[in-house]
Amino acid sequence: MGIVNKNDLTPNLLRHVAIIMDGNGRWASKRSMSRLKGHEQGAKAVREAIKGCRELGIPFLTLFAFSSENWKRPDEEVNHLMGLFRYFIKRELAELKTAGVKVNFIGNINKLPRDVQDLVKLAASETSHNTDLVLTIALSYGSQAEIVNSARKLAALVQSGDMSVEDITEASLAAALDTVGIPDPDFVLRTSGEKRLSNFLLWQCAYSELIFQDVLWPDFNRDCLEKAIEEYYSRCRRYGAVSV
Ligand code: FPP
Repeated sequence: MGIVNKNDLTPNLLRHVAIIMDGNGRWASKRSMSRLKGHEQGAKAVREAIKGCRELGIPFLTLFAFSSENWKRPDEEVNHLMGLFRYFIKRELAELKTAGVKVNFIGNINKLPRDVQDLVKLAASETSHNTDLVLTIALSYGSQAEIVNSARKLAALVQSGDMSVEDITEASLAAALDTVGIPDPDFVLRTSGEKRLSNFLLWQCAYSELIFQDVLWPDFNRDCLEKAIEEYYSRCRRYGAVSV
């Protein structure tokens, strides 16, 4: 599919795909396996999504890997997920680096185990020069907390006299979010059939198309990605205006 060639003159050119990877637990339950197995298979689907976006020339991919609410899951599951993030970064970093992928993390990284924090920082710094695909992984991420942090940064600037109240605008608030420098998602895809945003990129998704697929995340593959892209291009984005 020639994403860039086909659409480079259209206003809805696809630049940023954001994915809520849901359904790992259900995938495992359906097979009488533990939820942990579902997350392991989910990590394989992560590779598919990255490869697909690279090959289709999509420059930004954001994945919701662990929410600020996911800390409430049983310790065993949280520890397993941390192990998967650890393993994923160690195993994939060299390949991501040579494949031109810039790895970026958003969320409350300070809550992660110290060695995962170190790996996250290493992955970001080792790939910082790459430009082909910006892969953002949301870890310990909650959109409402992100917006509160942004408001606090601006409030501190006002308090110190470095900013006026009038300078608090949509642009300055957006520039203080974790996602600064990343365009807003063109579409948010959620797998598993659930139809919610679950505190994911609430500010950034103001005008994003929402696409829901019934597939459970571990079964997500290139075909699912292409179907989502096709659905995106079938939508008419008006941004509150009228169609031309
Ligand atoms: C939601 O499914 C999925 C998660 C909370 C974890 C996402 C993690 C991965 C896909 C694996 C590793 C990721 C990386 C980046 C290496 P769920 O467990 O809520 O599923 P359920 O709703 O069926 O229970």
